[in-house]
Amino acid sequence: MTSSFDPRDFRRALGNFATGVTVITACTPDGVQTGVTANSFNSVSIEPALVLWSIMKTSGSVEVFDNASHFAINVLAADQIPLSNHFARPSDDKFSGINYEKGIGGAPLLQDCSARFQCENYQKVDGGDHWILIGKVVAYDDIGRAPLLYHGGAYSAVIPHAGAKPKESEATDAGKAKNEKRLADNLYYQMIQAVKRYQASYQPMQMSTGLRTIEARMLLTLNDFGTLSSSELEQRIGMPDNDLHAAVEILCRKEWLTENEEQLTLTSAGIEQAETLWNVAHERQQEVFGSFSEEELTIFRKVLDAV
Ligand SMILES: Cc1cc2nc3c(=O)[nH]c(=O)nc-3n(C[C@H](O)[C@H](O)[C@H](O)COP(=O)(O)O)c2cc1C
Repeated sequence: MTSSFDPRDFRRALGNFATGVTVITACTPDGVQTGVTANSFNSVSIEPALVLWSIMKTSGSVEVFDNASHFAINVLAADQIPLSNHFARPSDDKFSGINYEKGIGGAPLLQDCSARFQCENYQKVDGGDHWILIGKVVAYDDIGRAPLLYHGGAYSAVIPHAGAKPKESEATDAGKAKNEKRLADNLYYQMIQAVKRYQASYQPMQMSTGLRTIEARMLLTLNDFGTLSSSELEQRIGMPDNDLHAAVEILCRKEWLTENEEQLTLTSAGIEQAETLWNVAHERQQEVFGSFSEEELTIFRKVLDAV
């Protein structure tokens, strides 16, 4: 059964669902090993302990997963973008230069992840253009490093939610005094609260220009740095190859960007669009920081730099 959705548009809509990023590895009995970057990982059942992920039927790694008895899910930590990009590219030897140890069934276990789940093959289900692979978890490591996220076609990191502000009438004087003392002393908590509040109004302002956050980031980065190659841009804004190319295509179609021998340059219409975005950013900055003196802002910047 086929749907009439535009695949690229459908993918973009799915990208609103934030996920973690994993590298799923396996090894055949005769020693052929592979690893695939996947964000389709999810938990299924606690008792028995089951998890799933899906692999494109056209992936060159399907055969390895079919022939292996086990697979390992390596949940990537926030500083592992290079590993994610590495395992998202086809290669004859995905493990050359990578630190790993052998897990159950020979499945490679990567170092310094957030968590690792070693699974035996449990069930393979037909899922359209993907195979859904369900695994029974036989061992796991709960390392707890801050995870890498994937949202809207770009990598992200977790900012802990600061929670809803209690209504004035709900906070008793005693509770308030205790809370205020503890929280006011905790600069990390205060920074997070501030970033959340800043973002809450800024992002809708940016979206009202009709651009996705990631497209806005591309325009602002190219406006600041001039011409960049796709790989330089990829590094600066933290996007996987495929998503970057899709966004480049959109911006080229709008004639805001030209691509010449891998070099990306804004057109005059693109520069104009970037200026609009800078104005939005400036407006928000003025709204929040406009009442502070230059001296106060200099100290603020100094503290931010040091942190
Ligand atoms: C963030 C991210 C998530 C991905 N998720 C999946 C996935 O869930 N399933 C999949 O088959 N491919 C996924 N891919 C694409 C594969 O990583 C890529 O096609 C594959 O590793 C290429 O190697 P192969 O030739 O061994 O398949 C993802 C890529 C990225 C960057």
